Amino acid sequence: MNESTPLSFSGYHRQRNLKIDEDLARVGPGTPCGEYMRRFWHPVAKSDSLSDLPKLVRHLGEDLVLFRDKSGQVGLVHRHCPHRNASLEFGIITNEGIRCCYHGWEFGIDGKVLCAPAEEDDSHIRDNVCLGAYPAKEYRGLIFAYLGPPELRPAFPIYDTFEIDGGELVPYETTLPCNWLQVAENSVDPMHVVYLHTRVNIVQFTEKLGVLPIMDFRERPYGLFYTKARRVNDFVWISTNDVIFPNFTQAGCVYDSTDGKSPKYFGRNSFTRWVVPVDDENTTVLAYRHFNHRAEQSRPEWRTQEALEKIDIAELKNRPYEERQRNPGDYEAFIGQGKITPHRSEHLATSDRGVVMYRRRLKKEILNVQSGGNPVHATEIHAGTIPTYGSDTVIRLPESEKYAAQDPMRNLQTAVGEIYEAGDKYDGDERYAFLEEQLSALNQ
Ligand code: FES
Ligand SMILES: [Fe+2]
Repeated sequence: MNESTPLSFSGYHRQRNLKIDEDLARVGPGTPCGEYMRRFWHPVAKSDSLSDLPKLVRHLGEDLVLFRDKSGQVGLVHRHCPHRNASLEFGIITNEGIRCCYHGWEFGIDGKVLCAPAEEDDSHIRDNVCLGAYPAKEYRGLIFAYLGPPELRPAFPIYDTFEIDGGELVPYETTLPCNWLQVAENSVDPMHVVYLHTRVNIVQFTEKLGVLPIMDFRERPYGLFYTKARRVNDFVWISTNDVIFPNFTQAGCVYDSTDGKSPKYFGRNSFTRWVVPVDDENTTVLAYRHFNHRAEQSRPEWRTQEALEKIDIAELKNRPYEERQRNPGDYEAFIGQGKITPHRSEHLATSDRGVVMYRRRLKKEILNVQSGGNPVHATEIHAGTIPTYGSDTVIRLPESEKYAAQDPMRNLQTAVGEIYEAGDKYDGDERYAFLEEQLSALNQ
C-alpha cells in the first residue's frame, strides 16, 4: 500500500495489521506489564465467594488457590503442591491453612509446611520446602492480594470514598472474555458515552449525555483525572472521572446529576471499579457500589444482585444476539474489538486524547519498573485516606454576551479542576467544606 492506494474499495490493500502491543497486553509472570501490575494490590474475589472449599482462581496469568481457613484467615497460594504437584483446589481446609489431598502435607497461609505426616519427625522438609503464597487482605467484602516481590509490598490503599460516615460498600463482579486494557480504556474514553450510550442507538442513561462535552485532562503522580463540562440551561454540569494507575476508576454520574435549576458541589461517585487481568484474554471487573449520603446515585433498587452484576445498563451480557445488535453497550464494544485488539490497526483521532494519554503513561510506568524503578503509590503521598475526584459539580453560569468572548465554560472547568486539586490539603469533612466554599463562589 502506498500514497496512491485508493480510499474506495480498498479492502484488498488494507488488511488489518494484527500485531498486538505486547508490552501492554501480556500480563503473565515475567512480562513487562505483568511485572508492573504485580507491584500493586488488586482485588481477586468477593469475600462471599469463599466457602468451606478452596477456590481455584486465575490472576495475572497465574493459577492460584484462594481459601479461608477455619480460623478466618484468607490464603492465596500456588495451585500445585510442592510435594508432587497435586492441585490444592482439592485440598482440605484446616484450622490454620490447607492440607493437600494426596499425601496430607499441610501449609499455612504464608506457604510454610506445617506438617508432612508421612515423613519422619526429624525430616528437614519443613525447613527446606514451602508452597508459594501471596499476602491477601480482606476489606469491605472484597479480597485483595499483592503478587509482587515481598520486599517491595506497598501499603494497602484506602480511598476517601470508602470511609464516608455511615456509608456502605456493596461488592460486585463481572467477567469479560477480552484483554484487560480494552475494558480499562473505556474509562478514559468520554466520547463513547455521547455516541454508544446516547446518540447512536437508544438513550441508555440520559439524553444530557448526548451533548458533546468539553474536556480537561489532568495528570497527577499516580494517575490522571478529567472533567467533562456540559451546559444545562443556565448551569454547567461538570462530571469527573478519576483513574489511579494502573486500573482503578471512579466516575461521576451517568444518569442525571442536574435538574438544570440548582447548583451542586462535589456530589460523589456511586461506584469504584478495578479492571483486573485474569490472563491475556480474560478480565474480571471487581467493584463496589457505594451507598452513602454523598453518593450521587445511591438508588435503593441498585442494591439487588441482578443490578449489581449488570454494573450499569450498558454492560449487560448474556442477552439474545439480536438484542445485543439492536442495542449494543460497553460489553459489545469491548468484545467486538477482539480478544486482544491490535493497536496497529487503529486510527486514533483527536477525540482519543484520554486513551493516548493513558497508554503513554502506562508504557512509561511499565518501562520504569522494567528498568529497576518503583511505581509511585498514592499511599506514599497521602498518609491517610487517598483523596479521589470522581464526582459531579453543577455551577450557575448563565449564557450571556458578557461571558461569550471569554470561553467561560472552559475557564469554569479549569477553576473546578484546580479547586479539586487544592482540596487535597484537607481531610474528611474539612475537605468537603473547603470544596463547597470554593466551588459555590464560582456561581455567576
Ligand atoms: S502431592 Fe501434595 S502432599 Fe503429596
Ligand atoms: Fe460505557
